[in-house]
Amino acid sequence: MTTTIYPGEVFADTQLFDTGIRQLIPHYDLMLDTLVACVPSNARHVLELGCGTGELSLKLLKHCPDAQIMAVDYSPRMIKMSKSKLEKTQFLERITFIEADFGAWANGEMKKEIGTNFDACVSSLAIHHLTDEMKYKLSTCIGKNLVEGGCFWNADPILQESSQLQEIYLKLREQWTINQGSTIDNIRSKIGNSQPQGHSGQDRLTTIETHLTMLSSAGFKTVANPWRFFGLAIFGGWV
Ligand SMILES: C[S@@+](CC[C@H](N)C(=O)[O-])C[C@H]1O[C@@H](n2cnc3c(N)ncnc32)[C@H](O)[C@@H]1O
Repeated sequence: MTTTIYPGEVFADTQLFDTGIRQLIPHYDLMLDTLVACVPSNARHVLELGCGTGELSLKLLKHCPDAQIMAVDYSPRMIKMSKSKLEKTQFLERITFIEADFGAWANGEMKKEIGTNFDACVSSLAIHHLTDEMKYKLSTCIGKNLVEGGCFWNADPILQESSQLQEIYLKLREQWTINQGSTIDNIRSKIGNSQPQGHSGQDRLTTIETHLTMLSSAGFKTVANPWRFFGLAIFGGWV
């Protein structure tokens, strides 16, 4: 029997995520390290959307020694793995996990549980599962729940400007996977069968230009795109 997973879980077996994602996504660690570097190290209250197995959470907890993280994910499997990983560190008391759909939060649910007045909000490889309408709602909700001067950084796949760039990217991705000791076919065989869940569906990619325009319309005073590698980018800004 094949297990159906939620969009964003990627691998049928959650235990394969940490190795598999590094073979699948070029410069995964560099991307997450760069995102974390954009968060002020004195941040005390941080919201993480789509925490997965806790790889970004761990980097964030090391970078921000005074931060308490509110980590949201709708997958009980991903939260379970994240918790068991964090239990083996000294960081467990600085992170709270909430099993919830961030699309529902954008629609006004879970307000009390998730809280407000965050110094920063971060997310990686998760929000692209929402429709553009929901991405806009979520950006507005994030903006409203940040303190003045607070920031939001999202590392996510983006829609490239041309098919030529997409072709080059796919070749580079294939080579990346080989360089990590695997093959695209091998990785594909481990990817789970996902069905739409809550507000998330299959990849719904948007150009970097649209993302930045969306953030400005959602109330972000300054928007930026500090990192990009073809179809992967970090974007966000400050309210
Ligand atoms: C590819 S994983 C990335 C995890 C982690 N941020 C990282 O970079 O390693 C995406 C995560 O987003 C979660 N996710 C996707 N859509 C979601 C939603 N609407 N609400 C909450 N979590 C969601 C998935 O369950 C998954 O754990």
